[in-house]
Amino acid sequence: MISHFVKGFRCLRCGQEFSLKQAEYQCPECSGNLEVVYDYKRITSVVERIKNSSRRDIYKYLPLLPFSDEKLTPPLIVGGTPLVRSEKFSDIFKIELFFKDDTRNPSASFKDRAGAVALTMARELMKDKVSCASTGNAGSSFACLSASVGMDCVIFVPEKAPVAKIAQLLLFGAKVFAVRGTYDDAFDLCQKVSRELNIFNRSTGLNPWTREGKKTVSFEIADDFGWEVPDYVFVPVGDGNIISGVWKGFRELFYVGLTKEIPKIVAVQSRLSNSVYKTLEKYKGKVSPEEIVIEKVNATTIADSISVDLPRDGLAAVRSVKETGGFAVEVSDEDILSAIKEISSNTGIFPEPAGATSFAGIKKACEEGRIPPKSRVVLLVTGSGLKDIQAALKIAGKPVSVSKDPAESIEILKKG
Ligand SMILES: Cc1ncc(COP(=O)(O)O)c(C=O)c1O
Ligand SMILES: [Zn+2]
Repeated sequence: MISHFVKGFRCLRCGQEFSLKQAEYQCPECSGNLEVVYDYKRITSVVERIKNSSRRDIYKYLPLLPFSDEKLTPPLIVGGTPLVRSEKFSDIFKIELFFKDDTRNPSASFKDRAGAVALTMARELMKDKVSCASTGNAGSSFACLSASVGMDCVIFVPEKAPVAKIAQLLLFGAKVFAVRGTYDDAFDLCQKVSRELNIFNRSTGLNPWTREGKKTVSFEIADDFGWEVPDYVFVPVGDGNIISGVWKGFRELFYVGLTKEIPKIVAVQSRLSNSVYKTLEKYKGKVSPEEIVIEKVNATTIADSISVDLPRDGLAAVRSVKETGGFAVEVSDEDILSAIKEISSNTGIFPEPAGATSFAGIKKACEEGRIPPKSRVVLLVTGSGLKDIQAALKIAGKPVSVSKDPAESIEILKKG
């Protein structure tokens, strides 16, 4: 059942509110993206339930999700991912550094949080077919979760998406359209087809329910810190929906009295896909959401998951940074590739390029002296390195070729 705590939607651009019947995807007045609004006052009275639960998945936070029971949730375990402290990098950067390892979700990316909630809402709304445009992860996640409940699923990806992500899509049994064009082209195509055929469209930014899943990462971070928040959260940004979910999650914890502060949120982008960074540079100082126009770029980064010309949740991303007192960092693709190796070899977590971007961002921010010593910082690691082996191999180095004679290996190891 849809939760009785859900009050409706609020437009992130013009601020107008709508009931669930009045709007479906975007604001009927200004086409801005919608945010789900709850009756936070009433939720305050049930938050002890969350505190007393020892569960470790996104449904632990049910009073802050848009459905009131788990009857229609997919059976896979989503969320409850580890928050790993790195002693080594904490020492190097003179901060307290944690990796939130979201490679450990059913389809190996953060997107399962969004997919699980969006799919449950599709089922609550009695939809029999779902769709999604994706750079790869949102789609493979939605296909995975759909497979777990037998939902018909249609995915539109750019034909150049990494092969592992396409393999996931096909094997999870989705109808896969490999679009001869960019992610932005796939997005537009998915929207037109879904509208025409009345298919529930989960595409990022457009669908207000995805943010409801993404925000659970903030719940878990605060929960793991004993209902305190870190000083900074570093988030890789493409469309800007993850970062907006992180922001919403921390706001909601604050609204219901579970936490007393909201952390500074830092957007990290590749210099070759830096729309949100450029927009934030342009609008320094106070500016109303309605005045902000998101900069369009020609994205070419190797980090395919965050390669976006015009972010579909760009305004929410910009607001997440501005309204928490955070900032944006842009890094090079070389920095991103090096970050894959640095994270993998020092933590045992293997990220795809987009997933490593948050680390490239903290490195740069620390070099520039932007993070005060001893700050507590969380980096989101949003996708597994196994999803893009081609990119990983660019930085992996080569194995040592040896004969079967042990003397040769021993000789090499002795030399060190
Ligand atoms: C691994 C990974 N990291 C980061 C992102 C960026 O998320 P968003 O597009 O919501 O900014 C994505 C989105 O596809 C992703 O798959
Ligand atoms: Zn509006």
